[in-house]
Amino acid sequence: MKYLITSSILMFFLFFLISGCDKEIYVYKKDIELKLPDQNFDYVNANWNFSENEEVSRVPEMLSAAGVTNEGATLGRVLFYDTQLSINNRISCSSCHKQKNGFADNKTFSVGFEEKITPRNSMAIVNPVLNNSLFWDSRANNVEELVSQPIMNHIEMGMESMADLSKKIETIYYYAPLFKKAFGSEEIKEDRIISALSQFLRSMVSMESKFDKAASNGFNNFTNSELRGKEIFFSVEANCSSCHKGINFSAPDGVGAGSSLKGLDNFMLPEEGFDQGNNEYAGPEIKGTANIGLDLKYSDNGFGKGQFKIPTLRNINLTSPYMHDGRYASLEEVVEHYNSKIKLHENLDKKFVKNGKAKTLNLRDTDKKALVNFLKTLTDENFVNAERFSDPFIR
Ligand code: HEC
Ligand code: HEC
Repeated sequence: MKYLITSSILMFFLFFLISGCDKEIYVYKKDIELKLPDQNFDYVNANWNFSENEEVSRVPEMLSAAGVTNEGATLGRVLFYDTQLSINNRISCSSCHKQKNGFADNKTFSVGFEEKITPRNSMAIVNPVLNNSLFWDSRANNVEELVSQPIMNHIEMGMESMADLSKKIETIYYYAPLFKKAFGSEEIKEDRIISALSQFLRSMVSMESKFDKAASNGFNNFTNSELRGKEIFFSVEANCSSCHKGINFSAPDGVGAGSSLKGLDNFMLPEEGFDQGNNEYAGPEIKGTANIGLDLKYSDNGFGKGQFKIPTLRNINLTSPYMHDGRYASLEEVVEHYNSKIKLHENLDKKFVKNGKAKTLNLRDTDKKALVNFLKTLTDENFVNAERFSDPFIR
């Protein structure tokens, strides 16, 4: 008898010991659990496989400098996936920014609360730490400025104010300990919500695509078609890389890349004789936007004069549909746009004007295919499968 009691007490403790080592589990609602690792993931010093690249290896330093901590990013991850951040408890950031789609949405327009539809295509989230010009019209200058906007936006998540949101979060029991770990006390405040979400966003670094790997091994893992596509992408004629530039394949120097990140743009210098274009919009004050001649008349003016942010091309094969209005379903269609469909008008970016006409590239079919194949090398499977960026709720 005595033996039985001792062993069941032992079993009891053993059970706690084992479950304690496993995961922290919170249950909210009947069938939704929040599951976090006992030991936080490492968001700051993530071991990018190809970080022998000197500039990429500076990213952890930049994350720390931006105030990213593992505890803060962990809280941000929970907030990002929590549908309770919306007024009707049905929409989270991740409803429109899906990990498997490179944190974009696979729909032309996204559905917000009350089934309302966003007026623009949801954007991929990748490397915001390298990007200070956010939204299709570049209206936000950093992630802090951005994150409070979708929550309050009446189409997207519908909360009346960040103050209302703080009050709501205070009533959700699993948050107090997470705020304590991230900020030292259980107090839930607007600026802490913004900071945690921003930390998570900044931690979303993607540097392990086939391209990244190739860049550190002289491109010897590229197929002939991918090499040809790369040649076209960086060529003076196609000029893709004059806009989709630098380590993030997005807006030019000092524009898309934060000023603290100077030097990163040297990651892949264009070829000799490369035409920067005489783009009158290319100044830093213009925030890395361009008009690429999608329409003669446009219903959405974007940044002004039909200019939109020059988006990153990282993970582009996962983020269809494309453009600010999601008009193109495939990369083939996008390439055909640049090849033959650019429309001439007064606001068209000067880089696309040649002899008073809209430029055509006249690419052969194999070259179009090569360009698409090159774009596909920018996909980072590790990023879209990383558990540290995944949904912590078991639904
Ligand atoms: C209902 C869909 C929806 C929800 C919910 C949503 N977003 Fe978005 N997100 C969008 C759309 C659409 C855009 C582009 C908006 C624009 O340009 O006007 C966007 C743009 C962004 C961008 C800009 C990316 C870039 O490179 O410029 C970031 C970052 C972002 N959202 C993060 C978030 C976060 C964080 C949340 C949650 C707090 C969130 N989003 C919630 C649809 C959504
Ligand atoms: C003058 C600057 C400029 C040049 C040159 C340029 N692009 Fe773009 N690109 C943009 C802008 C701006 C957008 C977004 C346009 C919009 O949505 O209205 C874009 C969008 C894209 C997209 C869709 C991105 C998304 O997330 O929806 C792809 C893919 C793309 N470009 C590839 C290319 C390729 C390939 C080339 C070369 C043939 C090229 N671009 C040349 C500025 C440029």
